[in-house]
Parts: sequence; structure tokens; C-alpha cells
Amino acid sequence: MATNVDPFNRRITYLRVSVTDRCNLRCRYCVPVKHFTFLDHGEILNYEEILQIVRAAACLGINKVRLTGGEPLIRRNLVHLIKQLCAVDALTDVTLTTNGVFLKDMARAIFDGGIHRINVSLDTLDPEKFSQITGRDCFNRVWRGLQEARDVGFSPIRINVVAIRGFNEDELEALARLSIDGPYQVRFIEYMPIGKDTFWTPERFISVDDIKSALAPLGPLERIPSSAMDGPAERYRFSGGRGELGFISAMSHQFCHACNRLRLTADGKLRPCLFADYEVDLKTPLRTGCGQDDLVALFHRAIDKKPGKHHAARRGRMQSARPMTSIGG
Ligand code: 5AD
Ligand code: SF4
Repeated sequence: MATNVDPFNRRITYLRVSVTDRCNLRCRYCVPVKHFTFLDHGEILNYEEILQIVRAAACLGINKVRLTGGEPLIRRNLVHLIKQLCAVDALTDVTLTTNGVFLKDMARAIFDGGIHRINVSLDTLDPEKFSQITGRDCFNRVWRGLQEARDVGFSPIRINVVAIRGFNEDELEALARLSIDGPYQVRFIEYMPIGKDTFWTPERFISVDDIKSALAPLGPLERIPSSAMDGPAERYRFSGGRGELGFISAMSHQFCHACNRLRLTADGKLRPCLFADYEVDLKTPLRTGCGQDDLVALFHRAIDKKPGKHHAARRGRMQSARPMTSIGG
């Protein structure tokens, strides 16, 4: 019997699909400092393969798909994939996470293709600091992209902020204020020690509790009840705010009990947990002619292997074989 419930009784309804491991930014918390190599084009799933996998996932009860990267908007003809994904009946929610660099140009086409909810990563409101953290002078492009997304009608528009001590701790309040003045969901994410040779140090970590304290001058946070679609995020709003806030305490509080997701890497591996390197290869079976039932069975294997909780030592460094840019956040 097809089931999407894992051994810890979590219902897996959400698949994050990385469409490329490449990115036009070099965020210091994501891309390794030293050597890193990108996948060759032939190693990356083509759109037909992604669709076959998503259809198999939908058979199992997965109803939400998020496109990620690297940076998804740099993959050629992405809108073609978006249209086809949005036509898969069993999916109730197709979304996208982007760094926003190409959003101004692509927002309309993405929206018309059927994606109406979007996450944009933005860790600072200072163009100079933006260049420091991402390695590219693109703040204004991202900002205009966000405005375009609003004009086109995306809702919700989430702004993902990785909180980093010594980088944006003095801007947390200003970033949170975006959720008061505009219709944005500002989502604060604890900095996770993922990948080797990154910029991570224990001193740079800021806990969600500390982030909330930094926001105290803006008034009390009102809790919004979570829905099944929220996954591990806790939701809040400030009274009178037009948008809302989200907090992802990936490290300080265990959020694993609410984890409802699997990840598909750009080279066709199904990854049950962000923090564990166990992967189920779907690409080889697909390229040697496997059918939908076989894919569904491979999904079961991944679901059965979802760990109950991650063991990412907050003070240690994760030694995941893949950098974050190839897992898709
Ligand atoms: N810790 C926390 N969040 C991260 N992201 C990338 N690397 C890290 C990390 N080490 C986030 C990005 C983006 C999402 C896809 O993942 O900010 O919003
Ligand atoms: Fe690119 Fe996102 Fe990684 Fe930054 S965090 S390098 S935008 S994939």
C-alpha cells in the first residue's frame, strides 16, 4: 500500500526540487570557500525526468513542490517546467525559492506559468553588505525584483533571512519591519553549519530566542496558529502589521518532529534529511527505463530512512558531503 507516513509518524507531503546546483551569487554561508565543482549538464535531470519523479511523488500523496537551486531562475526555460508542474493535478502548491537577481525580468512569466507563492533570500538591506555576503553587487536588482513580485500579485512573498552574528544582527529589527510596512512574510532562519569549508563558526550563530529578543522594540509578537503546510516554521505577526514573521530554529530547538519533506538534488538523488548524507539514486533507474511503480518504491525507501532527528552539533561543523548550494536549502 502506498503510504507517505514515515517511521516517526510524520506525513511526507512536500518535495523540494533542486533544478540546478549552479548559482549566480556566492553567498558565504552557502558556497564553500575553497574548491567546489559544478555538475556537468548531462548529470542534471532533464525536465521530463523531473516531471516523472514529481508524478510518482504525487501518487504517494506529496502535494507540494518547491523549486530551488543553486538558483533556479538561471536554468534555461524554467517557465516551461513550471507550466508542466502546475498542470499536475495532485499538486495543490507549487512554489519557488530564488535569490531574486532575475526576478524583475521573470516575475510575470513565473506568475503566468502558475506559481503564485515565492521565497526570496535577502539577508541585509545595505547594498554594500549585500555585496560582501553574496560576492555580487546586486542588492538593487533584488530589491526591484521584490517590488515587481508584489506588483505582479505574488502572495505570499517570503523574505528568507539567515541571521548571522557580526553580519546582520544590527539589522534584524529593520528586516522584521518589512513585515509591518509591506505584505511580506519575513522568515528568520538559524544559521546552519552545512557543508565543508564554509564561513560558519559557532560565534556567528544567533538563536531564534535571541532574534526574537532583538525584535522586542517592535512590540509583542502575536502567534499565528501553524497549519500543516508550514512545516517547521513558527509564525507570528506584529499587531497592525500587513505581513507576518516566521522563525526556523533549525539548530536551537529540534524542529525535526514537524519535518514533512524530502529533497531531490539536481543530479537526481532523493535526500530524506538535509543534515544526513543518505541518498536514494533515482536518476540511474530512470535512465535505465524504470517505471512509475519502481519510482514509487524508491520514494518509500527514502521515506523509511528519514531520521527521527538530526544530530547537527551546534558547536561543531557539519561534514555533509554536499555543499548547501547543491542541496537546495
Ligand atoms: N544556514 C541557513 N540557511 C541557509 N541557506 C543557505 N545556506 C544556509 C545555511 N548555512 C538558505 C538561504 C536560502 C535558502 C534556500 O537556504 O538563505 O534562503
Ligand atoms: Fe546562491 Fe542561494 Fe547559495 Fe546564495 S544561498 S549562493 S543565492 S544558492
